[in-house]
Amino acid sequence: MIGVLVSGNGSNLQALIDAGLPVVAVAANRKDAYALERARAAGIPVATFSLDCHADREERDLVMATWLEEQGVELVVCAGYMHLLTRPFLDRFRGRIVNVHPSLLPAFPGARAIADALEAGVETTGVTVHHVDDGLDTGAVIAQDVVPVEPRETLEARIHAVEHRLLPRVVSELCHVRS
Ligand code: GRF
Repeated sequence: MIGVLVSGNGSNLQALIDAGLPVVAVAANRKDAYALERARAAGIPVATFSLDCHADREERDLVMATWLEEQGVELVVCAGYMHLLTRPFLDRFRGRIVNVHPSLLPAFPGARAIADALEAGVETTGVTVHHVDDGLDTGAVIAQDVVPVEPRETLEARIHAVEHRLLPRVVSELCHVRS
C-alpha cells in the first residue's frame, strides 16, 4: 500500500496510478497542488498538510505520518514533494521512503537539478530513485537512468519521460519485495 507525497503537477503520481500500483493516499504540503486533482479523479483519499496550520515542521510531519498510517500506507513515495522530511516522519517510515530526482545523484541535488546540469555544461544527466534520509537528496541510490543533455530544448521533457518509466518500475519492485 503506497502513500504519495506531492507539491505540484503530479505527473509522477499519475504514472504510478496509470501503472496500476496500489496508491491508497496522497498528501500535499499545499492545497493548490494539481496533483490533488489527479488523485481525486482516481478516487484516492487526499489530505493537505500546510505549514501554516502547525506549530513547526516536526508537528506537521507527525500529523501527516499518522494520517498516512491510518490509510494503511506501508511505502511512502515522494513525487515532486518540495519539503525535506523531519525526524518524526523518517522514524515512522524508516527505510520505507523513496524519492524521484531529475539528475544522476550525487550530482545536482536540490530543487534546480535540471537547470544546474545545463549550467554546468555536462553531456549527460539523468534520473535517480533513492531512499530518503534527513539530507537534501543524499539517501542511498536504488536505480538510475542516463539522459543525454542534447538537444537541450527537449531535456526537461525527456527527463520527465524517463521518470515516468523508472519510478513505477522501482516502486513496483519494492512492493513485490514487501509482499
Ligand atoms: C520531477 O521532476 C521530480 O523529479 C522532481 O520534481 C518534479 C515533479 O514533477 N522532484 P511532478 O509533480 O511529478 O509532475
